[in-house]
Amino acid sequence: MLLQDQIVIVTGGAAGIGGAISRVLVRRGAKVVAVDVDGQAGAELETELGADIAFIQADVRLEETAELAVRTAVERFGGLTGLVNNAHASRQAPFTDLTPEQWDLSFSTGFIATRNFMLAAHPHLAKSGGSIVNFGSGAALVGQPTQAAYASAKEAIRGLSRVVANEWAKENIRVNVVCPMAMTAGVKAWSESAPELYEASLAKVPLGRFGDPETDVAPIVAFLLSDDAKYMTGQTLMADGGANQLY
Ligand SMILES: NC(=O)c1ccc[n+]([C@@H]2O[C@H](COP(=O)([O-])OP(=O)(O)OC[C@H]3O[C@@H](n4cnc5c(N)ncnc54)[C@H](O)[C@@H]3O)[C@@H](O)[C@H]2O)c1
Repeated sequence: MLLQDQIVIVTGGAAGIGGAISRVLVRRGAKVVAVDVDGQAGAELETELGADIAFIQADVRLEETAELAVRTAVERFGGLTGLVNNAHASRQAPFTDLTPEQWDLSFSTGFIATRNFMLAAHPHLAKSGGSIVNFGSGAALVGQPTQAAYASAKEAIRGLSRVVANEWAKENIRVNVVCPMAMTAGVKAWSESAPELYEASLAKVPLGRFGDPETDVAPIVAFLLSDDAKYMTGQTLMADGGANQLY
């Protein structure tokens, strides 16, 4: 599925699943503005992808980052057609042990950043319609222990996504959510430090493996951004090998 004429912002777009999304979108013909705090990964991505990507080293927690990303898309590529809110940092701890800083980290990088980027993108997406892909998590759907701050922010993102899908449908702006399960560097490090937990997670995946960010998750995001998904909005898609199935 081709994404010619698409101009897309990807938050956390330099590494992990976000880096894979940036690569796949550019390969399919889109122009990408990738926003990430990881300057080295961003510079490497710019070297790899050339003029079709603009990397901004910035923190999504700051409101001005969303404005800067939208301005960069318009000035560098001539507009904005899509937004992928992928960045999210969080720490795990039992509910009673979570600190205010840990709650703030999860909500500011996840929910607040998603809200701010959607608001900043809206005037441009409203011009000719567009697609927003937000990120949820199976850990939030099942209420995984130690994930209170993360799961709460992820479900807030899903709630917001459904409301905005309804409010902005008249402007032909679609809003969907992807819940991935993918073998990123972070997940790989966790699998090596906690092999028993990793094996237990793997056992719950019917397709028998953690997904690949580039070949399993990014194509689902590309689909939601494309015209092939033009009749889908307000939905959650599980890119998780069948680990969590919605009814
Ligand atoms: N990997 C999985 O299996 C999995 C499972 C469920 C949900 N998710 C969700 O998928 C998305 C991507 O996950 P991932 O595993 O690739 O995460 P990751 O932590 O590997 O990568 C996230 C990217 O966001 C960037 N980032 C972090 N904080 C930032 C900030 N304040 N400002 C700008 N950039 C920032 C990081 O530098 C990194 O490049 C997240 O929303 C995550 O919650 C992932």
